[in-house]
Amino acid sequence: MSARVVVDLAISGELANGWDQHQRQDCCPEERSGIEPSRRHENTLRRETRRLDTSLCSPQVASTSNMRVLVTGGAGYIGSHLVDRLVSLKHDVTVLDDLSTGSLTNLQTSRDAISFVEGTIIDESVVERLVTEAEIVFHLAAGVGVGNIVQRPLETMITNTRGAENVIGACHKLERRLVLASTSEIYGKTSKMPMSEDDDRVLGSTAVPRWGYSTAKAIDEHLALAYAAHGLRVSIVRYFNSFGPRLDPRGYGSVIANLVRQALANEPLTIHGDGTQTRCFTYVDDTVEGTLRAAFDQRAEGLAFNIGNDHEVSINDLAALIIGITNSASDIRYVTYEERYGKGFEDTRRRVPDIRRAEERLGFKATVTLSDGLDRTLRWWRSTL
Ligand SMILES: NC(=O)c1ccc[n+]([C@@H]2O[C@H](COP(=O)([O-])OP(=O)(O)OC[C@H]3O[C@@H](n4cnc5c(N)ncnc54)[C@H](O)[C@@H]3O)[C@@H](O)[C@H]2O)c1
Repeated sequence: MSARVVVDLAISGELANGWDQHQRQDCCPEERSGIEPSRRHENTLRRETRRLDTSLCSPQVASTSNMRVLVTGGAGYIGSHLVDRLVSLKHDVTVLDDLSTGSLTNLQTSRDAISFVEGTIIDESVVERLVTEAEIVFHLAAGVGVGNIVQRPLETMITNTRGAENVIGACHKLERRLVLASTSEIYGKTSKMPMSEDDDRVLGSTAVPRWGYSTAKAIDEHLALAYAAHGLRVSIVRYFNSFGPRLDPRGYGSVIANLVRQALANEPLTIHGDGTQTRCFTYVDDTVEGTLRAAFDQRAEGLAFNIGNDHEVSINDLAALIIGITNSASDIRYVTYEERYGKGFEDTRRRVPDIRRAEERLGFKATVTLSDGLDRTLRWWRSTL
């Protein structure tokens, strides 16, 4: 597949948003002057930056500032929260995103303080140019969401392998610090709980597309660790079911987004399987805090960390909680995995992180409870209606 740069905001439907229109008209004079497409959506607000020796930084991330930071996938749900936090810490942030599942609306808070490049991580030259300009890279761009992965396995596999390899390879070649976003899906359908970072991975057949995501992310981890043996400074963060404001209401990647949307519309809440499967939901502020600690603490280098809340809840209990806090008249509708994802789909019954490594090395422990996080998410959701 040839490298491709997505340039037209209209393709992603972003023009419905007032700021996007403004960006297109006022921040992109290059577009009218024929400058290379991948630069079209960069704004010109780059600030002078100072180099900071990260080896002097404690895990207190607030003590670092003024680094040039690249966030791939920064217009996505987690990425945009990370960007907001980095901007508030006075870093100089560039986002590379193809807006396939992300949105410029997610970046409204930080829009005037960042550079935005609409392009794909599949494009080696764009990746290399942006990595050159950065001191640290947070790689979050990925094809995500079980629905997406099952429906578009080829596209997500290429993004999650070839695209990731471009970013990881560039960071090695240019000697840039890398934080690699990975996933609890890495562990597959293991029954060993809690899941510790060095545990065996237990996966199903390659005929089941779902395991392609786990496998691709594992290849990224292997690649990053192989490069680490050749000098790459990398930390891996494995996220466990993050939730919070900016979850895509279509719910392509989040059971919470699906259930909240349905509860607010007083529609039946759809549960796949029998609802006794469990997950540990992590509020996005905690997801970002864990990511930053892994980035700015030298003791995190060369290691993977579970970044998650270890409070376990069944999907049935989650649905009941959501019905309660939304005062919804909805009831529950059970849908078989086969109906939803087709024949042969396999789910993981439980997914609980062992949080000791993150606690011991990074001093990180998730602090936001599920009900508090749901309250905050609902407040945001209602404000967008
Ligand atoms: N949300 C979770 O609970 C969760 C759990 C485990 C891991 N993760 C990982 O966290 C990261 C962020 O996920 P998210 O939940 O915020 O999803 P998201 O879809 O909101 O973010 C992914 C971003 O990457 C962008 N993107 C996709 N393909 C791209 C490409 N080829 N080039 C450039 N940009 C591209 C999308 O437009 C989007 O903005 C991903 O790496 C994902 O695998 C998330």
